[in-house]
Amino acid sequence: MTLLKLFLDSADPEKIRRALDFYPLDGVTTNPTILSRQNTELLPLLKELRKITEGKLLFVQVTADKSDDMVREAHLIADRLGGDLCIKIPATEEGLRAIKILSRDGISTTATAVYSVSQAILAAAAGADYVAPYMSHIDNLCLDSAQVAGDMAKLFREHYPKTNVLAASFRVAEQINRAVLCGVGAVTVAPEMLPVMIGNRGTEAELESFEKNWSSVYGDKSVGDLI
Ligand code: E4P
Repeated sequence: MTLLKLFLDSADPEKIRRALDFYPLDGVTTNPTILSRQNTELLPLLKELRKITEGKLLFVQVTADKSDDMVREAHLIADRLGGDLCIKIPATEEGLRAIKILSRDGISTTATAVYSVSQAILAAAAGADYVAPYMSHIDNLCLDSAQVAGDMAKLFREHYPKTNVLAASFRVAEQINRAVLCGVGAVTVAPEMLPVMIGNRGTEAELESFEKNWSSVYGDKSVGDLI
């Protein structure tokens, strides 16, 4: 049995700090869009993210479009940041070549922006540690993202045990539940999704009822005040 890995999809230092404090997270994923949203100097931002995620996995994506340049960028990111890193490489022909080279160099990679099982097969065969299907984008093509990601997970278990499905780009909590139930090994969620996952009107109603019944007997005293 392997534990599901839960990552935060963000480059916002404040949101990451808070999420790491409250939630059981294994690390942080970023992409060029998420980083550019911070609209600040890149290296200091990445170093800050590295510091905040110390001891956890940090995902950083290359932006080059030729494989040799992707490999160079990946090494540069690894040299500058160090620690537990995974380099995200787009699931293209050039990306596949970069994943093969980086895998030989001992650098961990994620094939990203993945839409199909065939892309996943090639990325895993090339040596990717993670393959990241973009769930809501796949659903928008009128496909069943959980089914697609579940098929990837099944074929990795059978043929590429080193590779994990890192399901990404969720818009609703039910997409996450379905992906996990279909067998993906990891999910990454935006900070805004976490309160949606934990929040429940039923739980709130129970708490209101506990509070009402308790205070009718013990007033404003807490358990800590009384024992
Ligand atoms: C995954 O690692 C990606 O960063 C992310 O989930 C992309 O999704 P979005 O741009 O559709 O939110």
